[in-house]
Amino acid sequence: MKAILLVGGFGTRLRPLTLNTPKAVVPIFDRPFLHYQLDLLEQLPEIDEVILSLNYQPDAIERVAGDRRGNGPRIRYLVEPRPLGTGGAVKFAEPYLDDTVVVFNGDVLAGIDLRAVVDLHRSRGARATIVLTPVDNPSAYGLVETDAAGNVRAFREKPDPDEITCDTINAGIYVLEPGTFDRIPPGTKYSIERRYFPSLVERGETFVAYVERGYWIDIGTAAKYMQVHRDVMGGRCAAHPFAGRADNEPLVDTSAAVDRGVRIEAPCFVGAGARVAAGAAILANSVVGASAAVETEAVIDGAILWPDSAVGAGATVRDAIVGRGARVEAGAVVGPGSVLGDDSVVTAFSKV
Ligand code: GDD
Ligand code: MG
Repeated sequence: MKAILLVGGFGTRLRPLTLNTPKAVVPIFDRPFLHYQLDLLEQLPEIDEVILSLNYQPDAIERVAGDRRGNGPRIRYLVEPRPLGTGGAVKFAEPYLDDTVVVFNGDVLAGIDLRAVVDLHRSRGARATIVLTPVDNPSAYGLVETDAAGNVRAFREKPDPDEITCDTINAGIYVLEPGTFDRIPPGTKYSIERRYFPSLVERGETFVAYVERGYWIDIGTAAKYMQVHRDVMGGRCAAHPFAGRADNEPLVDTSAAVDRGVRIEAPCFVGAGARVAAGAAILANSVVGASAAVETEAVIDGAILWPDSAVGAGATVRDAIVGRGARVEAGAVVGPGSVLGDDSVVTAFSKV
């Protein structure tokens, strides 16, 4: 069995973070996001190959994707000649598929029982099975209506307010039969959400829904990217590196140098080679990335510092994201919602 991870998007809503780092490999604590998805796929040992469907900055994804310990599935990198859309990307992978395929949007994380999804697909003899999750506002997603027997009755991508008839949306996780790809024209931009799924409904094919009420997130915006860190640190999402920890202590890498006299509040994470000077404060829900530096009297409060960034003496970074190699100079204040791109500099005493 094969899996396809759709990781070709531009990550527009996560700019500037995605200018040098495709969304699929943005760091979550100390690992690229993609590794969390590969962890999920390990629930299905019959998956012997994961096809990474690439377009935007494929090299950046290739560099980190294979960098995993253990004997996981083989990884195949498929680079589209141009963006083919979610359906076109699946069609492009068709020559490499054998039978049933598991497909993931490359930006979703879920506490999902994939075995149960595949079992449902098989027991129903489905042509396609889609995982649904309930959300408060479906407008930014694909709305999916089902009937009492758990069949999909309608699929509406990014519905208008008057089209919102239920709260279940497409979670971006599918089990598909390649025989259904005959309707996707090769080499053409084609949306799985706007065309393939509605066509399954129109033709009355067995299109089954699996509703997941556990944890689910799409990390595609800065707010959601920050949220997933909080959810893992807070135990709402069981994932690396916090899953299974009995204590509620700050998680500090053994190679980090946190001076005595640092005020450090759980939950938080300090990565490999990071340096935090005496007198600084790392407050709850903060993430200090690998080799980042925090100088004395600086306050990191619910913020995420990417690797190699630096926060100067007396500076404050609150509920914000600081990109790779960026510098917040002494006394500067970076406030809630700020997202500093890689290598940006906030000069001393500036307020952002
Ligand atoms: N290979 C490839 N080629 N991948 C693509 C392309 C492409 O042309 N376009 C998008 N992708 C990938 C993105 O990288 C992302 O991982 C995934 O497809 C979904 O694209 P998004 O841009 O993140 O879509 P969305 O979040 O607005 O909506 C999708 O996800 C929602 C759940 O998070 C839809 O599938 C919705 O129906 C769904 O509810
Ligand atoms: Mg998305």
